[in-house]
Amino acid sequence: MTAESLTGLDISLDQVDPEIFQILREEQERQESSIVLIPSENYAPLSVLEASASVLANKYAEGYGDNRYYNGCRNACKVESIAIERACSLFGAEHANVQPHAGAQANLAIYYALLEQGDRVLAMNLDHGGHLTHGQKINYSGRWYEIGAYGVDPDTGRIDMDAVESLALEFQPRMIIAGASAYPRTVDFERFRSIADQVGAYLLADISHIAGLIAAEVHPSPVPFADVVTSTTHKTLRGPRGAVILCKKELARRIDRAVFPGIQSGPLMHVIAAKAVAFLEAATERFRTTQKQTVANATHLAHALIEHGFDLVSGGTDNHLMLVDLNRSGRTGAEAADLLEESGIVVNKNPIPFDTRSPRITSGIRPGTPAVTSRGMGAADMRQIAQWMHSALSPASSPDLRLEIREEIRTHCQKFPVYGPLPDSKFR
Ligand SMILES: Cc1ncc(COP(=O)(O)O)c(C=O)c1O
Repeated sequence: MTAESLTGLDISLDQVDPEIFQILREEQERQESSIVLIPSENYAPLSVLEASASVLANKYAEGYGDNRYYNGCRNACKVESIAIERACSLFGAEHANVQPHAGAQANLAIYYALLEQGDRVLAMNLDHGGHLTHGQKINYSGRWYEIGAYGVDPDTGRIDMDAVESLALEFQPRMIIAGASAYPRTVDFERFRSIADQVGAYLLADISHIAGLIAAEVHPSPVPFADVVTSTTHKTLRGPRGAVILCKKELARRIDRAVFPGIQSGPLMHVIAAKAVAFLEAATERFRTTQKQTVANATHLAHALIEHGFDLVSGGTDNHLMLVDLNRSGRTGAEAADLLEESGIVVNKNPIPFDTRSPRITSGIRPGTPAVTSRGMGAADMRQIAQWMHSALSPASSPDLRLEIREEIRTHCQKFPVYGPLPDSKFR
């Protein structure tokens, strides 16, 4: 620590807190040297990390536009209006709210804005790919609202839209949620709209997973069809951790008031600055190319896994992720995820449709390609990853074999540096 500093404000992290600094370095090393296949994770560009570590973190700016509860909001206001403009232009939306702290809060704001407690909501079953905030009993959404769940067809692994329609007609929901955390196929937002219209329901599209694909036009957009669209900003969209809400003009005031003062107070202005950067980046040709490659890589990985004998729910993928059904391999999702991590491949265990195991064990894993594609990997790498996954999970897998794979992966990852070499006193 420098003797001259009286307040401590000007001392860098490595000097103030070597313990946390060291852990952050180790985390960076882990991210650089592993094959990250968790489809909800990505590497945020350095520009996004810089904005989110900026001095705007110091600013309180409750409110919207020029109407703030605190003084000194000049720069915060500018940043937020740029973020809003960019979000609207990127997705072709009429209105955007960039304040939700995370995807769960964005969804909570929609329930709060559009529904009364006890209203009916039709959403995708968590076991079939839905999200916790889409009506799980252990979540506010499942406790405060009456939930009807649709799922996938047991034979095709795809959402049966005729079944969704029948369910909606019978259940008469006030809101229908389209969107998922673990669905490998294209979502038919247009059909969801026509079903919602038949029963007079709001349509919420939660595009948290596929927002980057939609921005790059490699997945159809729900914006023309849904009343409201929610999305996290940190998955395929490659922004900071956080969320955005898009909606039609006529719902703008209700949505804004639901976010603040409804469910949140001070916005995270540094994160909003980083969202603005991410929206700018997502409008570039290089981002579009990466998203196309993310989908192409998922197809390559899916084919290669099938060739190695893995079963994929629905037989493949249209987007950035796939669901591997491990039942025939005799391994559980939890066991497979641990063996893969030991080998240098990070995936998450995941329930598969009609899973008989608990969510802590599961019968599946959910590999995805956003992070490996962001670091520049392509088709040949996907085939190599499938080969490593096959070996690590095969009956012949042993600690020695997994160590061997770990070292091969460490060497392979060096060819695809995420952020490049670091100056001594910085982490990224
Ligand atoms: C479809 C969907 N909605 C909402 C969320 C919640 O996002 P967060 O973790 O930022 O609260 C997720 C995150 O996994 C998601 O997949």
